[in-house]
Amino acid sequence: MVKQPVAVDALTPLEAIAELERLAAEIAEHDRAYHEQDAPTISDAEYDALRLRNEAIEARFPDLVRSDSPSRRVGSGPSEKFGKVRHAVPMLSLSNGFSDEDAADFVGRVRRFLNLGEDEPVEVTAEPKIDGLSISLRYENRRLVQAATRGDGFEGENVTANVMVLRGVPKSLAADAPDLIEVRGEIYMSHKDFASLNEKQNQTGEKVFANPRNAAAGSLRQLDPSITAARPLKFFAYAWGEEHGLPADTQMGIIAAFAAWGLPTNPLMKLCRSVEELLAHYRLIESQRAELGYDIDGVVYKVNRLDWQQRLGFVSRSPRWGLAHKFSAEKATTVLEGIDIQVGRTGALTPVARLKPVTVGGVVVSNATLHNEDEIARKDIRIGDTVIVQRAGDVIPQVLGHVPEKRDPASVPYTFPTECPVCKSHAVREQRESGKLDVVRRCTGGLICSAQRVERLKHFASRNAFDIEGLGDKIIAEFYADELIQWPHDIFTLEARDKTSLKRLKNREGWGEASVAKLFDAIDQRRTIALDRFIFALGIRHVGETTARALARAYGSANMFREQMIAAADEQGDAWRELNAIDGIGEIVAEAVVQFFAEPHNRDAVDELLKHVSVTALEARSTTSPVAGKTVVFTGALERMTREEAKAMAERLGAKVSGSVSKKTDLLVAGPGAGSKLKDAEKYGVEVIDENAWFERVGAS
Ligand code: IVH
Repeated sequence: MVKQPVAVDALTPLEAIAELERLAAEIAEHDRAYHEQDAPTISDAEYDALRLRNEAIEARFPDLVRSDSPSRRVGSGPSEKFGKVRHAVPMLSLSNGFSDEDAADFVGRVRRFLNLGEDEPVEVTAEPKIDGLSISLRYENRRLVQAATRGDGFEGENVTANVMVLRGVPKSLAADAPDLIEVRGEIYMSHKDFASLNEKQNQTGEKVFANPRNAAAGSLRQLDPSITAARPLKFFAYAWGEEHGLPADTQMGIIAAFAAWGLPTNPLMKLCRSVEELLAHYRLIESQRAELGYDIDGVVYKVNRLDWQQRLGFVSRSPRWGLAHKFSAEKATTVLEGIDIQVGRTGALTPVARLKPVTVGGVVVSNATLHNEDEIARKDIRIGDTVIVQRAGDVIPQVLGHVPEKRDPASVPYTFPTECPVCKSHAVREQRESGKLDVVRRCTGGLICSAQRVERLKHFASRNAFDIEGLGDKIIAEFYADELIQWPHDIFTLEARDKTSLKRLKNREGWGEASVAKLFDAIDQRRTIALDRFIFALGIRHVGETTARALARAYGSANMFREQMIAAADEQGDAWRELNAIDGIGEIVAEAVVQFFAEPHNRDAVDELLKHVSVTALEARSTTSPVAGKTVVFTGALERMTREEAKAMAERLGAKVSGSVSKKTDLLVAGPGAGSKLKDAEKYGVEVIDENAWFERVGAS
């Protein structure tokens, strides 16, 4: 529920005392959830609002500032899991600005503080504010010796072992770097890596992260560094701590030196000479926000001259020489006209707010997510309420809460349906192993439920599954509604049925002879399919592409897979044991697959489908390649392909790609700059070739 707190101006001192106490406790709680559990319960905007209110009250009642005030703390103390590191130079934070005026005020303050003449230009850098977690990397004699999180700004966690395994962090610096420097910057996860990590987590039934920042934090704070190593974390350097000699006397110069030493720096950093230029760069960065591929939440301004930074110094926890100009999450209020319950492929019921259309930050919004049943109850959102809608960047708009004084007294709390709105089957919340109820309520109807069937058909024809061009979500929904396609195999009999049908496809609105022929052709092209895609296409819960590949490798043919999954229903038998022994298959996945095949509907659907498509084994190509079955390592710079591409190519050819050289390695592909792996290869007598020779060997040069 959105509380309507008393305006700061109207608070009495007694009320202020109580309010400051409440805010200190509440903010501390959110800090713990965010920093220690990596599981925030409120949005960043809501959190910022709490802090701003706290600061506003303190500004009005300076005598009432508490010793445990959030304004005196940065983040929260280090958690107990890791050893502690005292920062030689504290890792402080930036003060926030939210408007163009705040940016102008910042430059004005700098000018006044330094007593600069009107014509004297103030150079200020502007760069993205990365939404990750800050880290301090200590390089002694150009070697990385320690990594620490920010913690409370004075003492952080020692995460050296974890950072050592990250590919995105250089372990050594170029020869012209000083003998001691603490490089500071942000560890983050790209959107792409975040999506594949979550897919993997979901498949193995593990915790799914709410956003890339939490995923990065959770990955970095693993007690087992091998888990961190498997997570693709990246790094941008933007500041420093203790040092023996800086390479330049400006912010810009230092960042250029960082880059020259081999540290990743952000390409969008720019030197600006006026407030106008700063704001123009702010808008440029904001306009590119959605395409950057990683989360940013504002633009950071820093006075360029370091001697001026020195003079400007700090106020409490933030430097006078810097400002974080945050992007605003756009908000608006509108009326909640209804709550629709959508039914997904796996039966999940998702509440969607139907709103009276409203413009939020230039975009008309008429639907927003209500997350789940518990969230609706927690915020006590009712149909007919005036609600606050937020749209931040490119994420789906969400309903934050309602406006209490606009509530109709006759309104009633919303009751979440306990039956599927489409097929009327029971909808239940499963009990998790921890004893807690799953947040998602699911329709138990399975294939009886037409909503689940349509969603499954869409998935079946989608790009990473059967990839049938021209059979997109919209067409599937239409063909389903018109009973042209009810089951996956109906796709493959469409042409034959069309010949004798009274309602020929070519006569449909929007279709013609040519487009129909094209669709039939696209369908024909998919009558042969690889086993892993086939398994993925079935849409079994928890079975994503990676899991499907593991199953395909293990069972080799569709018939064997089908037979073994049916046999695995006996939890005492060999089939169940074998299924659980497959690398990457956990109990949750195993149960989901067995349950799928225990349903007669599903078995029939698979059998019918197999009458129309032929499924090929996964490794058909591999036996012919000279690298099939070999263990290959790539090292050094690759010029003709990215590392990811190289790995995918080798795997496609049946090779196993490893990250380190051992006795078991068959081949090292080394590009310029190869180091220790090359030495290891010599030590173990492993064959070494360059990138061109690799292409020749695999016949792709
Ligand atoms: S400069 C004295 N530059 O934002 C502080 N910080 O509230 C020097 N951040 O703790 C920090 N991107 O975690 C700086 N380009 C950037 C940043 C950045 C993200 C984070 C960092 C810092 C917080 C400041």
